[in-house]
Amino acid sequence: MSADAIEPVDQRLARYLRPGTLVLPALPPLALYVHLPWCLKKCPYCDFNSHEQRDGVPEARYLDALRADLEAALPFVWGRRVLSVFIGGGTPSLFSPAGIESLIGDIRARLPLEPGVEITLEANPGTFERERFRAFRAAGVTRLSIGVQSFDDHKLKAIGRVHDAAQARAAVEEAALAFDTFNIDLMYALPGQSLAELQADLGRALAFSPPHLSVYHLTIEPNTRFANHPPALPDADLASDMLDAITEATGAAGFDRYEVSAFARPGHRCTHNLNYWQFGDYLGIGAGAHGKLSYPHRIVRQLRFREPRAYMDAALAGAAISNDEEVPRKALPFEFMLNVLRLREGFDLRLFVERTGLPRSAIEARLGEAEARGLIVRDGGRVQPSPRGFDFLSDLQALFLAE
Ligand SMILES: C[S@@+](CC[C@H](N)C(=O)[O-])C[C@H]1O[C@@H](n2cnc3c(N)ncnc32)[C@H](O)[C@@H]1O
Ligand code: SF4
Repeated sequence: MSADAIEPVDQRLARYLRPGTLVLPALPPLALYVHLPWCLKKCPYCDFNSHEQRDGVPEARYLDALRADLEAALPFVWGRRVLSVFIGGGTPSLFSPAGIESLIGDIRARLPLEPGVEITLEANPGTFERERFRAFRAAGVTRLSIGVQSFDDHKLKAIGRVHDAAQARAAVEEAALAFDTFNIDLMYALPGQSLAELQADLGRALAFSPPHLSVYHLTIEPNTRFANHPPALPDADLASDMLDAITEATGAAGFDRYEVSAFARPGHRCTHNLNYWQFGDYLGIGAGAHGKLSYPHRIVRQLRFREPRAYMDAALAGAAISNDEEVPRKALPFEFMLNVLRLREGFDLRLFVERTGLPRSAIEARLGEAEARGLIVRDGGRVQPSPRGFDFLSDLQALFLAE
C-alpha cells in the first residue's frame, strides 16, 4: 500500500501478521542492508540510487535519519538475530570512519548480531587513503568490497571512473593488509575491449590473490548516460568467450564460481549475498533501500523513499517507508528461482517449502519441463542448474513465471 497518509507502525505490523494463505514453517535468516547514496561523480553506466555529491555529504543528518529509520523498523523484525550487515551504495567510503563507527554502534545497540557477524563496506578506490581503510577496520567493518572495475587506465577512462589503475592497485594492496577478507568488483565486455585485454585485466586482479571476486558483464541500463550515448561494446559472442576465459582462469587460480558472477576462495563466500540468493530475509534502511521480510502467512517487500533529502525528512519524522506490498502467492516460485538458480549448487526442495510457504507441487510440473530441456539436474530433493542452465539462466528462471 502507498503511505500517502502515514500508516502507524503498529497498524502496518498488524497487517503483516494477519492470517493468510501461506504457511511458513520457520522464518529465514535475517540480514541488514544500509544504503548510503552519494558518489564523487555519477558513472555513465550506473543506474543505482546514487547521487553526485556537490556540496559534500550531509553525514550527520543522514546518520540521524538511518538511526530513526532503524528504530522505527525494529517491530518488523522483533527478536530476530542479524546474520550480516552490508553497507552499500553509492560510495559508502565517502563517509568518515567516525561516521561508519557510529552507524555500526547504532546498529549493535538496537539489533542482536550473530557472533562473528560479517559487516561489509563498499569502497571506491577514488576515496582511498591508507589510514582511512585501516580506520574502517577499527570501526568494526570486517570485509571491504572494492569497486575496481578494471586495472587498465584507458578502460577506466572509457567507463568514466574517478580513479586510475595506480589508485586501484594501492586500494587493493591496503585492503589485503587491513582486512582478513575482501572483494574486488570487476566488469568485462568494456568499450572496445579485446579478449587479450580482458585476460590481462583479470590476470592483474588474480595477481593480488583476492579472497573474493565479483565479475559483471557491463550492461547498458535505461536512463543512463551510456544509454543515450552508447559506446562500442564487444558483441555477444566475444562477451561469451570472455566469460569462458574468466571461469577458466579463476578456476585454475583456485576460485569456486559459487554464483553466476561471484568467485570465492575456500572460506570466503559472501554471507550477505548468499542469504539473498537463498531467498533469506533482509531489512533495508537508507534512501531507496528495499527490504524483504517474512511473516507466518505472507512475505512483504518494503521500499524506502528514494531521493536522499526526501528520505531524510521522512525517516526523521518516523516514516521512512514509501510503500510496501505483499508478494502475491503466484509470484513466489519465480521470485525464489530468480535467486536460488544463480547458485551453482542449486537448492533443496525443502528450502523452497520453507522459504515460500508453498507446497512442492507448486513447481513440480515446471521442474519437469526444465529437466526435460536439460536446464537443471535433479538428485533426490536437490535441484541444480546444469552448465547449460547456467548459460541460459534467464530462460530457465522464466519457466517459473506466473501464468
Ligand atoms: C552498487 S556498485 C557499488 C560499488 C561502488 N559504488 C563503485 O562503483 O565503486 C556495485 C558494483 O556493481 C557493478 N555495476 C554497476 N553498474 C553496472 C552495470 N551497468 N553493468 C554491470 N555492472 C555494474 C560494478 O562492478 C560495481 O562495483
Ligand atoms: S561509483 Fe558505483 S554507485 Fe557510484 S555512480 Fe559509480 S558505479 Fe554507481
